[in-house]
Amino acid sequence: MKKNKNSSILSVAVFSVFSLLGGGCASQDSGVNTAEIIKYSDFNPAQVLLDNNGRHVNAHGAGFLYDNGKYYMFGEHKVGGTVGNRALVGVHCYSSDDLYNWKDEGIALPMSDDPDSEIIRGTVLERPKVIYNPKTKKYVMWMHLEFRKGKFAKSPKLEHILSESPDYRTARVGVAVADKVTGPYKFICSFRPQAGVYPVNDAEKLKAFRKELDAKNPNWRDCDLNKNCPSKEAVVRGQFFLRDFEGGQMARDMTLFVDDDGKAYYACASEENATLHIHELSDDFQGFTGRYVRVLRGDYHEAPAFFKKDGKYWLFTSHCTGWAPNPGRISVCDSMLGEWKELGNPCRGEGQKKSRTRPYSAKPDTTFLSQSTAVIPVQGKKDAFIYVGDRWISEDAIDGRYVFLPIEWENGTPIIKWYDKWDLSFFDSDKK
Ligand code: GAL
Repeated sequence: MKKNKNSSILSVAVFSVFSLLGGGCASQDSGVNTAEIIKYSDFNPAQVLLDNNGRHVNAHGAGFLYDNGKYYMFGEHKVGGTVGNRALVGVHCYSSDDLYNWKDEGIALPMSDDPDSEIIRGTVLERPKVIYNPKTKKYVMWMHLEFRKGKFAKSPKLEHILSESPDYRTARVGVAVADKVTGPYKFICSFRPQAGVYPVNDAEKLKAFRKELDAKNPNWRDCDLNKNCPSKEAVVRGQFFLRDFEGGQMARDMTLFVDDDGKAYYACASEENATLHIHELSDDFQGFTGRYVRVLRGDYHEAPAFFKKDGKYWLFTSHCTGWAPNPGRISVCDSMLGEWKELGNPCRGEGQKKSRTRPYSAKPDTTFLSQSTAVIPVQGKKDAFIYVGDRWISEDAIDGRYVFLPIEWENGTPIIKWYDKWDLSFFDSDKK
């Protein structure tokens, strides 16, 4: 039977954070006997979701992979307080047969204590996504990284991590690989994408704009969002892109997508988050082919999550307001590297009646207090897709919740509505 036992659940959660910080392993049993083991048979969006040990599922900004008959969820393991938004533990993995019940598979990619590691404890490591490469037989994880900065940047000590703030100028993407889906993943490297490479869709226009900028002002590169911020038109035409051309493009909120033909793509918020870049991945899924596009230029899309239905590609994104929720966005295209078009907010209806006390409402204009992170294609059901978003609690990161909602259709366009409770039989009805 399900009971709302949030207080005991969170004390177990806190206990498990400290055991993990002490170097323990996520699937150890300590503390479990104080929690309730629940067998779920439905989705309860934004309620505490417990794993097979009775601990809250700790995998934020998650990605999902279906592999050998099981679903896997990979996400940021967060700890309490605002420091919880820094990666102190690593990427947590869970598995599930039915999408309701999640088994703790441990930390797939642990943060490092090596002072020279690019994923030293305390780095910002967000939105990890995993795909499987059938040619190399490797599981490949991509993630967004913001490095640490300051005199303690190479210290794994919590007191030092607490004393600093991340270097948000990093904007890099990292890649890790594993032989087994649950890991351990080996961190390979991080980089700024496409240094010295023009995108396939805008190359000539960008070259012409660069000439124009050079002729107008030799210091045009001296700009960012806070200093000498270019006009909206200059952002759309690529001033931030050209600024970063030699060193590589900024890479923030990200996702991966594998198409039916086996080609994989990486998309990220780039150019100070103003423009989304979609890159075709190389055959091993660990790098790029060099074919990529700038899309939705100057419109500040974050939190990308793709899916495909009937030959059309769909993309959930958010606006750009940090941890605060905002109206979701849905965009469409006939091909991954085509010209994407935004169709507005896909959220409909009244929203959540009994939401937790937040300064925002759990209504369509806040994407029901969530920010997109993934779309799960449900196996064995035709045209069944689940929107997954994060309900961030930035001041106490560990308490962030997951919003799973069924994707419905309105005149051929995906929409989402709030349900306090729902199950997969939803997709057998005529609502979908
Ligand atoms: C959000 C982003 C999150 C995180 C946050 C930090 O916009 O989607 O992944 O980076 O900003 O403020």
